[in-house]
Amino acid sequence: MQIRTLELQNFRSYEAVALSLTDGLTAIVGENGQGKTNLLEAISWIAGMGSFRGVPDDALIRLGTDAAVVRATVLSPDGREQLIEAELPRIGRNRIQVNRQRLARARDLLGVVQVTVFSPDDLELVKGGPALRRRWIDEALVSRHPKHDATRADLERILKQRNALLRSAHGRLDTDAAFTLDVWDAKLAHTGQAVRDARETLLAEMAPGLAGAYDAVAREAAQVETIYEPSWHGDLAEALVASRDQDVRRGVSTIGPHRDEIMLRIGAAPARTHASQGEQRSLALALRLSADAVVRAAGVAEPVLLLDDVFSELDPGRAEALLDALPGGQRLLTTAAWLPPAAVPDRVLRVVDGTVTEASAGA
Ligand SMILES: Nc1ncnc2c1ncn2[C@@H]1O[C@H](COP(=O)(O)OP(=O)(O)O)[C@@H](O)[C@H]1O
Ligand SMILES: [Mg+2]
Repeated sequence: MQIRTLELQNFRSYEAVALSLTDGLTAIVGENGQGKTNLLEAISWIAGMGSFRGVPDDALIRLGTDAAVVRATVLSPDGREQLIEAELPRIGRNRIQVNRQRLARARDLLGVVQVTVFSPDDLELVKGGPALRRRWIDEALVSRHPKHDATRADLERILKQRNALLRSAHGRLDTDAAFTLDVWDAKLAHTGQAVRDARETLLAEMAPGLAGAYDAVAREAAQVETIYEPSWHGDLAEALVASRDQDVRRGVSTIGPHRDEIMLRIGAAPARTHASQGEQRSLALALRLSADAVVRAAGVAEPVLLLDDVFSELDPGRAEALLDALPGGQRLLTTAAWLPPAAVPDRVLRVVDGTVTEASAGA
């Protein structure tokens, strides 16, 4: 998969910019605040319909304007070129077109472009709370099986409705509400179990790659594991019956995949509390690499790699090890500072105050 061209209008700091992009390693260089990350963010938006910086779409629209536009031509592995156009208005729905045909459902864009993003914030996957790890595994699932997005959306909707019902019960269920809750419980049991099964299957698929990627990036062998810690045991339908009193009392769904944890271990110890910062960074990179490897191995896609400022946080040894561990294909990396000597970009783009110019490779 390859991004051939990228055109932005009123996206973040860019009033208008148009780039052609090539295969191989492209370094996007420039001082801080010039607009490097904004370019990667635009590409990741069309891949995942959201910013990898975790901000709402509204933040992506250039201040003082009404709508942002991202336009990209993408070369699929089968040799087809597709034109993707996304318009993000401040008011109203996003408009998404592929080959000038409006998509019936915006979510149909998922899977058309696949990216793997590496960012310094990934450290939070290891150090932060369980919600970040759930988001990571769920996004990896959508990359692995784009149709999983529908299941994820179902789960969100079911939990929203179930929680609204529990909240409105104010601690006491009347007969009608109890009947409605039965209906949501059946849906939650079904979809919740499906989400948990899918997550556990993917973690098992990733396990060998995760161990290998960790060893490669950390440059030392360690036993790295992910352990899925569910918020319920046994059958989810039965567990929901058992937790009903508690759910009603607290006005919220206390069990389900939205309360599960993915425990990360290095050696025999929890990485969150016991690993050094360097080990945590290596593990975060390995999580990204192993999810990417599964998508490739399954033949789903060859994601475009987007590396946002990752070298600034790594010691030179780890930085070179990461470069060696990256799969081939299109790789776009931003940096404000240095590149490891082993990184020989095929192309260098320089960003100065929202203007992108070609700089000679190696300069
Ligand atoms: N919605 C927006 N409208 C206008 N400018 C924005 C918007 N969002 C971010 N910016 C500007 O974009 C710049 C940051 O761009 P970024 O790509 O993060 O820089 P870097 O080169 O450091 O990666 C900042 O100057 C910021 O003020
Ligand atoms: Mg940046």
